[in-house]
Amino acid sequence: MSAPNEAPRAALVLGNWKMNGDAASAEALLAGLLAGARDIAGAAGVCPPYPYLGLAAARLAGSGIGWGAQDVSAFDDGAYTGEVSARMLADMGCTWALVGHSERRTLFGDTDAEVARKAARALAAGLVPVVCVGETLADREAGSTELVLARQIDAVCPVLREAGERCVLAYEPVWAIGTGLTASPAQAQAAHAFIRGRLAAGGVVAAPRLQVLYGGSVKPSNAVELFGQPDVDGGLIGGASLVAADFLAICRAAAGRA
Ligand code: 13P
Repeated sequence: MSAPNEAPRAALVLGNWKMNGDAASAEALLAGLLAGARDIAGAAGVCPPYPYLGLAAARLAGSGIGWGAQDVSAFDDGAYTGEVSARMLADMGCTWALVGHSERRTLFGDTDAEVARKAARALAAGLVPVVCVGETLADREAGSTELVLARQIDAVCPVLREAGERCVLAYEPVWAIGTGLTASPAQAQAAHAFIRGRLAAGGVVAAPRLQVLYGGSVKPSNAVELFGQPDVDGGLIGGASLVAADFLAICRAAAGRA
């Protein structure tokens, strides 16, 4: 839904498959999604592991379901063993690249500055960066949620100012990822409104029109209520995106939210 006087923001649901599955399971999952593609076309995408991006591209082309990457290098082409550049992802037909997922930040040491560089590379290659932010349980219990979100947002504002509407934000409270704990709709709404306001304060003039997705244990059973919040424009889905029927149900919940 949208604030008064704002054009409605389209719903978007992205599936982050993380490092799960193999070629056979990716093929089966894509087939399952294609079976329901008509309902969710234009409002959904998947982020498979890099080796299966080509498969996603081949199967999803023309379906209305998009695809993207789970990360992107902060560097341009060159001697960066193991890295994948934004230009390569654009070559694979990716629409989106996740940047700053909490698993990248906590397990692989991605800093705020690196996240901003990754977002810049993605934009330069014509991809839509999905900038992920979120606080840990310790942050929340210490009353530091807004402080942490502000720091993460402020680092990307200089990049996102240049992006117009070609960027997406994702609020993923770390304590809700893969834990079965979900932010309450009110907690999600408060964080999303804060994120949008902080972007605007940081000079991102498109902030009222940007999609801000919620991620963290979204399931078909809680999606409708979460997506019913005025500043929650869809979801970034982990575990439930590995089950075609669940992901489709979540996408349908987002599409019907307005
Ligand atoms: P879960 O939906 O498994 O909690 O994961 C959320 C997430 O990290 C999506 O990027």
